[in-house]
Amino acid sequence: MNGSTKERVLQALLQAKKDDYISGAQLATFCDVSRTSIWKAIQSLEQDGYTIVSAKTKGYRLDGDSDFVDAAHIEPYLQTKEIGRTIVYKKEVTSTQTVASELVKENTPHGTIVIAESQTAGRGRMERPWETTAAKGIWMTVVLRPDIPPHQAPQFTLVAAVAVINAMKALYPSLEPVIKWPNDILIGGKKTTGILTEMLAESDRVNALLVGIGINMNQAMSDFPDELQTIATSLAVELGHTVDRAELVAMICSYLENYTQLYVKHGFSRLKTLWEESSGTIGKRIRATTLREVLEGIAIGITEDGVLQLQLDSGEVRGIYSADIEL
Ligand code: BTN
Repeated sequence: MNGSTKERVLQALLQAKKDDYISGAQLATFCDVSRTSIWKAIQSLEQDGYTIVSAKTKGYRLDGDSDFVDAAHIEPYLQTKEIGRTIVYKKEVTSTQTVASELVKENTPHGTIVIAESQTAGRGRMERPWETTAAKGIWMTVVLRPDIPPHQAPQFTLVAAVAVINAMKALYPSLEPVIKWPNDILIGGKKTTGILTEMLAESDRVNALLVGIGINMNQAMSDFPDELQTIATSLAVELGHTVDRAELVAMICSYLENYTQLYVKHGFSRLKTLWEESSGTIGKRIRATTLREVLEGIAIGITEDGVLQLQLDSGEVRGIYSADIEL
């Protein structure tokens, strides 16, 4: 399917007012292609997960009533220049990380987001599976292409956490989310959000960062499997009402765009302060389980590189690069 015809059809459908149909003939004129090409573009958009209502005498319109996280729902909220300006939306994928890494090979631009209603093989940190309740959360990967050397990539994980938590605070001021190092977001001690940053790099330059964000949004407690009931929560459970997923996606894009620009201009220092402001880990006694050992002590801060500083009872300060943290 010719990408540009499909994109132009989508653009025309998005620009039409919510309930306005556009006829096949109008679309064919707008895109300067045959009616058959328009029909194929509509089919291809439907395969991508868009719900398009067609009426014999009127033509086509995007279904804006259903609660999807497709471009039709996200774009009206979007205020960014780059992040979220290319949206790849799917009803179901194995993992948005996998789809995004394929798109990077095809040179997808900085700021592309891959977002799905459900994942059959969502993955978390440390190769754990990630539970994805269909159509009730945000399951997305943001492709970032900052011009940084590979050793700085872990700092971006923290940048993403600050972007997500500040987007949440902006939209739902009654919530009190905190970041658990490095980048889980908890409310009342229960996990709402996990972030997995993967890097595609040459020897000395980052080619792309795949920032995978999973947020429990509209699940009821009964939607979580038994083993997650005591450790997970959703924004809807905490707020007492369901929330608009597309609005939060757009707000995350805004914060991520600002913070990425800040990072590229000034480095991590200002973002480190923002991270510490939202941290639920610093100053607390924690247990850190690394691949080699279990350490207990007080989390006293993070370094400029995002490494957690743990002060053991002996007074010795150890840098924690990767671990499971219990508060
Ligand atoms: C974690 O807490 O371990 C990180 C979880 C990250 C989950 C998100 S959902 C969207 C993206 N696709 C995946 O397969 N994982 C990330």
